[in-house]
Amino acid sequence: MLNPEYRAQFPALKHKSYFNYGGQGTLPQVALDAISQSYDYIQTIGPFSIAVNNWITQEANLTRESIAQELGVTAATITLTEDVTVGCNIVLWGIPWQVGDHILLSDCEHPGVIAAVGEICRRFGVTTSTFPILGLAENNSPPDTQGSPEQILASIDQHLQPQTRLVVLSHVLWNTGQVLPLKEINQLCHERGCLVLVDAAQSVGQLPLDLLDLEVDFYAFTGHKWCCGPEGLGGLYVNVEVRDSLHPTFIGWRGITMQEPKGWQPDGRRYEVATSAFPLYAGLRAAIHYHHQAGTAIDRYQRILNLSQYLCQKLTTIPQIQVTSPHPPETGLVCFQVRAALEVNSEKLANHGSIVSTLEQQGVFTRTLASPDCIRACVHHFTTTAELDHLVDRLAKTIPN
Ligand SMILES: Cc1ncc(COP(=O)(O)O)c(C=O)c1O
Repeated sequence: MLNPEYRAQFPALKHKSYFNYGGQGTLPQVALDAISQSYDYIQTIGPFSIAVNNWITQEANLTRESIAQELGVTAATITLTEDVTVGCNIVLWGIPWQVGDHILLSDCEHPGVIAAVGEICRRFGVTTSTFPILGLAENNSPPDTQGSPEQILASIDQHLQPQTRLVVLSHVLWNTGQVLPLKEINQLCHERGCLVLVDAAQSVGQLPLDLLDLEVDFYAFTGHKWCCGPEGLGGLYVNVEVRDSLHPTFIGWRGITMQEPKGWQPDGRRYEVATSAFPLYAGLRAAIHYHHQAGTAIDRYQRILNLSQYLCQKLTTIPQIQVTSPHPPETGLVCFQVRAALEVNSEKLANHGSIVSTLEQQGVFTRTLASPDCIRACVHHFTTTAELDHLVDRLAKTIPN
């Protein structure tokens, strides 16, 4: 049982029931304080001064180290970015594309990443296609039956082409909460001569991670979702083995050495650009540290699984609801559909947007997703069963009969 005092330290949780951690996490008070103290420090000691510049270098080093520990890698492999999408763009634009190269995407990727791939194809004569994950399960199986790891690997295998240079997929699918078999996927793609860019928006801060063991090439993540850090600070891991083949595209003073011999920074800093909101660094570190007080990464993930299992069971007591996430849940992302009518076999879905909006007016925060058309409720390790009971109670009262 989590100490109630732990939860009380999230100002955003005071007067609402919050289930949008996959969109944005709630900042703990210690993170807010750390950000504010950093802004104060800069104004008091600078803002532009030798002392502040040294302090910024130290803050950035500490932040790369703190993130690296969460991922099981060295700080030298971490680039500080703004968000997931910037990290994906650094990789997508940094590969020296040749006309005829191919990019393979899963059918569950985020629109921003899909758009970036589309523009690469248009500019460089690269082609793209998708491999299916949704709907991989046997025909006529219920919507909560997901493709197995073997089916997902077979799907990738079938869709890889001799010209495929990069596979783009999410570690945790944002629209179902399924965890992909990343190590096996990386091994398969490496055997077939291509690299893998992982969208880690929904995994960092949620799953216990060891990127070396997972044999990852590129892993783009953010601090503002499951880590509960501030918006505007994320990161990218680039495996040292592939760093020299990934050229910096956005270039500035942080990525280059100022002394002779001039060149790129020898590590992940080469993809960093210039002035950023440096006070956020202390905020993210404080948020990461705050999670540690609630147990190890394994303990916290287990608590998330127990809570999402509890939510799924409760949701199935409402006859119109069909949970579309894997069963049992693999993460804290719980997706479900609401049928418009109670008739058996009715395919028509309720207006999920209107349900989410009614819930929000009552202080219960969830979101809709377009594909599959569903509502998503996220549970974090500090979510309570009382909060989940309240969500299900409000849903039961909101759903049209
Ligand atoms: C899977 C996935 N990728 C990318 C993003 C975009 O994240 P960011 O705004 O940090 O770039 C999200 C945000 O919801 C996401 O869920």
